[in-house]
Amino acid sequence: MRGTKVYVAPSILSADFGSLADAVRSIEAMGGDFVHLDVMDGCFVPNITFGSKAIADLRPVSSLPFDAHLMVCRPENHVDSFCAAGADYVTLHYEASTHLHRILSSIREKGKHPGISIVPSTPVELLSELLPFVDIVLVMTVNPGFGGQEMISQCLKKIETLRRIREERGVEFLIEADGGINRATARSVLDAGADIIVAGSSIFSARDPSEEVAFLKGKW
Ligand code: DX5
Ligand code: ZN
Repeated sequence: MRGTKVYVAPSILSADFGSLADAVRSIEAMGGDFVHLDVMDGCFVPNITFGSKAIADLRPVSSLPFDAHLMVCRPENHVDSFCAAGADYVTLHYEASTHLHRILSSIREKGKHPGISIVPSTPVELLSELLPFVDIVLVMTVNPGFGGQEMISQCLKKIETLRRIREERGVEFLIEADGGINRATARSVLDAGADIIVAGSSIFSARDPSEEVAFLKGKW
């Protein structure tokens, strides 16, 4: 559960796909805490990125935790391969499957951290039954599919709600915010109470990514 620490998870979605290994390697040096891996299948979202083979090949270049965000239909068909590829956190979408408890438990059984994510139009209250079974709740603050979009600020209320529920129920999970987080919006995300900030375009287009990461951690 969050103390005062804020973690940053740079998303390689905005890196040069011709040099992904260099991008992953650079994340530790810039002060990132997780490597955020956006897996898109052209079914759950209208874009395609990479799969478990790419993650397995990238695994040796960094010792940071790999945070796989699966934006895929039928995640039950894919979680095993992402666990085997070396993802440490495996997050799937609430909207993508029915038997979520079963899938999340199978991730846990493999010794990995299960996570659940919701798109902007899904109410956070729907996660109530799943909260004891996850280590991460990823709140999408844009419609998933692309980097560089503008944040939908109404989503920040969900982060506040999750913090309240976490305290009231004494369940433990990290709250991750993803989408449109940059110098203009970071303060509102931190104020809402996110533990992990995902950022792609703001970090990978920055002149000094380390400065950007420090800013996103609240060092302004
Ligand atoms: C969007 C992805 C995000 C994306 C964020 O579907 O889940 O992780 O990389 O990119 P920015 O920070 O550019 O909004
Ligand atoms: Zn993501």
